[in-house]
Amino acid sequence: MTLKATSLASKVVLNDGVEMPMFGLGMNLLESGQSKAAEKAVIHAVQNNYRLLDTAQFYGNEADVGRAVKKSGVDRKDLFVVTKVWENGAARCKKVFNESMKKLDLGYIDLYLIHSPSAGKNVETYKTLLDFKSKGLIRSVGVSNYGIHHFEGLKDAGLPTPSVNQIELHPWQQKRDIVKYCRENGIAVMGHCPIAKGQKLKDPTLGKIAQKYNKTPAQVMIRWSVQKGFITIPKSANLDRIIENADVFDWSIGEEDMTTLVSTIIVVLYV
Ligand SMILES: NC(=O)c1ccc[n+]([C@@H]2O[C@H](COP(=O)([O-])OP(=O)(O)OC[C@H]3O[C@@H](n4cnc5c(N)ncnc54)[C@H](OP(=O)(O)O)[C@@H]3O)[C@@H](O)[C@H]2O)c1
Repeated sequence: MTLKATSLASKVVLNDGVEMPMFGLGMNLLESGQSKAAEKAVIHAVQNNYRLLDTAQFYGNEADVGRAVKKSGVDRKDLFVVTKVWENGAARCKKVFNESMKKLDLGYIDLYLIHSPSAGKNVETYKTLLDFKSKGLIRSVGVSNYGIHHFEGLKDAGLPTPSVNQIELHPWQQKRDIVKYCRENGIAVMGHCPIAKGQKLKDPTLGKIAQKYNKTPAQVMIRWSVQKGFITIPKSANLDRIIENADVFDWSIGEEDMTTLVSTIIVVLYV
């Protein structure tokens, strides 16, 4: 049976035994620098019981995450920091990893992901990540945007199965085949873009369901991910919305509405 988060504190045990929170803050487009948007969002999220932070080399805000964690008042060991490498191959990956470690300055990375298979040299990059893990610099190794054939490539090379696959998941992007493959192979499914980047919030079906439960369309989308058993990481730079997005655990979407949401959306996709 698929584990579903029941609170902000819910955790899943990954295939390497590491415990990972199932709900967190997405960090793409959270501005680094003068506005301190990224730092403020992380401090606010952590002080309101978010325990998972999802950054990346590519987002340019790893240093903000590191600073915010230190200022948050919550022990580093109680937080779970995810970052990602876009570069491929051993040499480039090591360089980026060292830069990320320096920027985060948190002693270790909880989960390090290959950001995309499209960078190439997947086997070599993955072996490099496993090496960081064996040295205790990262706790878990995962991938992002991987399809079945990418996993099969790692398997054919005799490598252990990644712990996590982070893929786009929301009612408009259900990716049933890869979700099924991950579940059958012990790979935790982590959904990115749970609010579809804010682009579907005016959808009428979603609006009706939100009204019925007296919730916002964003909350319905996030709750959908929670009910599907995905690890989920909505992003917001807005402090009120960071609270709103986490308010998805003491109510649920009825089975019929889960179906309506999905079937209506699928029909819309194919007309
Ligand atoms: N691995 C990958 O390739 C990959 C790709 C994309 C994303 N990601 C990860 O997944 C995270 C989430 O994805 P995402 O940031 O692309 O999109 P998202 O979380 O689906 O949506 C974020 C958008 O929705 C808005 N929003 C958030 N809460 C809202 C609310 N309650 N009401 C109305 N609007 C709301 C945000 O604006 P405000 O900030 O103004 O609230 C922002 O424009 C990323 O931040 C990143 O960590 C990973």
